[in-house]
Amino acid sequence: MQPSNKKATLSFSDGSPSVDLPVYKGTLGPDVVDIRALYHDAHVFMYDPGFLSTAACQSSITFIDGEKGRLLYRGYPIEQLAKTCDFMDICYLILNGDLPDAKQKAAFDSLVTHHTMVNEQMHVFLRGFRRDAHPMAILTGLVGALSAFYHDSTDITNPRHREVSAIRLIAKMPTLVAMAYKHSIGEPYIYPKNDLSYTGNFLRMMFATPCEDYQVNDVVERALDRIFVLHADHEQNASTSTVRLCGSSGTNPFAAIAAGVACLWGPAHGGANEACLHMLEQIQARGGVDKLGEFIKQVKDKSSGVRLMGFGHRVYKNYDPRAKLMQQTCKEVLAALGLENDPLFKLAMALEHIALEDPYFIDRKLYPNVDFYSGIVQRAIGIPRSLFTAIFALARTVGWIAQWNEMLSDPEYKIGRPRQLYMGHAVRDVKR
Ligand code: CMC
Repeated sequence: MQPSNKKATLSFSDGSPSVDLPVYKGTLGPDVVDIRALYHDAHVFMYDPGFLSTAACQSSITFIDGEKGRLLYRGYPIEQLAKTCDFMDICYLILNGDLPDAKQKAAFDSLVTHHTMVNEQMHVFLRGFRRDAHPMAILTGLVGALSAFYHDSTDITNPRHREVSAIRLIAKMPTLVAMAYKHSIGEPYIYPKNDLSYTGNFLRMMFATPCEDYQVNDVVERALDRIFVLHADHEQNASTSTVRLCGSSGTNPFAAIAAGVACLWGPAHGGANEACLHMLEQIQARGGVDKLGEFIKQVKDKSSGVRLMGFGHRVYKNYDPRAKLMQQTCKEVLAALGLENDPLFKLAMALEHIALEDPYFIDRKLYPNVDFYSGIVQRAIGIPRSLFTAIFALARTVGWIAQWNEMLSDPEYKIGRPRQLYMGHAVRDVKR
């Protein structure tokens, strides 16, 4: 990271000396003002709750141009990747920086495949959860518990340990998500099968039983694989930043990723896909398309506390490119499964149309995000609503682990420690 010729100068109205700050240029995106010396030089902090204008790290993994609605993984546009690559290509790309050739891909596939089984005792651990526990509650516990089962890859200073942990997490996540599902419906867990693809294997672990095997359907497999591809990484979002902050203390990778899973659960982040389908089902139950006007009125009334789930994004002020691809996948899957008249899809299309023409959404640049259509796709392929966010977590694991690894390899890496604007009592004496 080299300072550019440009400098920023921070001056104060009270006559305190001004401070010169270096400015860095990224490959793409806005310039960044380096404020690290500010406290030392001027004894002030910067105030930025929600990180609206703060770059917390440097990264070479993913780039989002929110104004243009563009998403790149390692420089490649998501539209090209979604059309030409499967999720294993994407995992390799995100972890290693470039797409694999055929030999590298085969070796990577085989490596991941041979780490899909989990320690048998994890089954015993899982049995301790209530059957009606939310899958994200279970998943947070299971991922954290990996650190209790895989001690041999938790030395973060050892690159080999970091590599093995990355593969273990990517490989075991589908097994854990399927186990959480089987636990919730009271069915036996299904072991991974090594002759299936990553996504096909996950579908089988979800839907096979010891009495009846599951034949992987190509259309369903492709659709789910695309969901994985579209969710693989998204630069410094809330859960990724959580993984980085948690990992910055030097904790082990399983603990750091468990923190990411917990953060993803929230309805403003990964939980939005579940909340979005719930919203559509509720509108449908109240009268469907005819009730959309009433619903939009409620959304625009701030006192109602109702948001249009699956709409809006901190970074995208244009159509989320993932939403476009997801809408296309949705159409393809519904047609292939003979569900082209799916009322929820029609409702979602009508809702999108109304919102995109409404000044409330136009003025605030609110567009559909990836979660608007992903729930409809998952529902069509038989995934229960409560599992949607766990599927997101499964796919995002590669992004989390790559970002965690990147942080540890960064020579400027330090424990994350934000400061604050203290507004509490000044010093006072205890009077007793
Ligand atoms: N419905 C209605 N109004 C909205 C919405 C929405 N979905 N999103 C934002 N607004 C309004 C908000 O009320 C505010 O209005 P005003 O300027 O009058 O106060 C304005 O738009 C800016 O919103 P904000 O809350 O300040 O924006 P943010 O960047 O802090 O929040 C967000 C981003 C994604 C949390 C928000 O848009 C939201 O809650 N969306 C619904 C939940 C959702 O779909 N989340 C998934 C995000 S994509 C997947 C992921 O990354 O996890």
